Amino acid sequence: MRILGIESSCDETAAAVVEDGHRLLSNVVRTQIDIHKVYGGVVPEVAARSHIEVINPVINQALEDAHLTWADIDGIAVTYAPGLSGSLLVGTLAARTLAAQKHIPLYPIHHVEAHVYANFITDQANGIDLTLPTTQPTFPMLALIVSGGHSQLVLFRDHGDYELLGQTQDDAVGEAFDKVAKIIGLPYPGGPSIAEAAKSGDPKKYQLPKAKMQGAYDFSFSGLKTAVLRAVQREVGVDTTFPSFELPGLLNDAQRADFAASFQNTAIETLVDKAEKAFHDRSPASVVIAGGVAANQELRRQLQERLPIDINYAPMQLCTDNGAMIATLGCFYAARKEATSPFSLEIQPSLSMTKTAWNQAA
Ligand code: KG4
Ligand code: ZN
Repeated sequence: MRILGIESSCDETAAAVVEDGHRLLSNVVRTQIDIHKVYGGVVPEVAARSHIEVINPVINQALEDAHLTWADIDGIAVTYAPGLSGSLLVGTLAARTLAAQKHIPLYPIHHVEAHVYANFITDQANGIDLTLPTTQPTFPMLALIVSGGHSQLVLFRDHGDYELLGQTQDDAVGEAFDKVAKIIGLPYPGGPSIAEAAKSGDPKKYQLPKAKMQGAYDFSFSGLKTAVLRAVQREVGVDTTFPSFELPGLLNDAQRADFAASFQNTAIETLVDKAEKAFHDRSPASVVIAGGVAANQELRRQLQERLPIDINYAPMQLCTDNGAMIATLGCFYAARKEATSPFSLEIQPSLSMTKTAWNQAA
């Protein structure tokens, strides 16, 4: 079974073909990072218009790279939730139109659930050169999902059968990376630039707080971001009324690196503390991490160091937004669930992942 996956929920236009839920046949990702960089973050209207320009070429490229025609495609999987509404519309309408026109079954996919499925890709066609895990995760599977919009710990009992153990009560961890990068004057997206700057910084230089939460597996990153802002203000000797956009100009590179390293270390320790507790409480058979922040090498290192289980990490290219993860989850949908009508699928910009579990109402 071959599924075409289409993703356009934020600032990447992506399409990919996956066979039988594990074999990657093509993977095309067109990122808008350079377009949004000048604004310091994603501008929703610009994102939507940019998706419109490239969606068809990206989809065609995914078929071409896989050496396939439409007749070889058994289903189209598309991100319909959650994300920026204008961006989601572009991919969803493209998928609906193609499904209707070519009589191919259509499967609506939740973006956050799909991030987890990057970990199920274990095989690739000639010409794709990713370092993939050799085996798929087994159930029960503990998933730490960490992206620009989400931070949550989820226990999967099976495909589509999962329990949300905890989640962020305010900012997502990727959002905190992006905001802290702005405060200390590092370029967007903040995750990779903080990770790079942190390499030459001292992670113990600034003492930053870890939020105490009521829910054992819940997170909070908004206080950490404010704590960095206050520490920077103290470091350069200004008060809280000083315009924050002028702060980066008062920091030198060594201070910037120390702030990056101290923030990164505190954010990662927070994630790993909760994941470690969930692991010991629930004894999963496998652990995966997913979402853009899962590309962070220090997170991978600390998690592996603290958990007494081998973790098979997906390649960094499949952690940030892509069509491969959408197509992979689409394969499991196609094998077990009814297709959706291409004439009625609506986007759901703020739908929680728990609403899409298969063990609830469809
Ligand atoms: O999953 P993703 O590509 O998009 C969303 O669904 O949100 O995640 C993007 C987030 C951004 O906040 C970005 O700064 C963060 O992932 N990110 C990283 C790294 N690479 C991307 N955060 C920490 N370390 C990285 N190496
Ligand atoms: Zn994402």
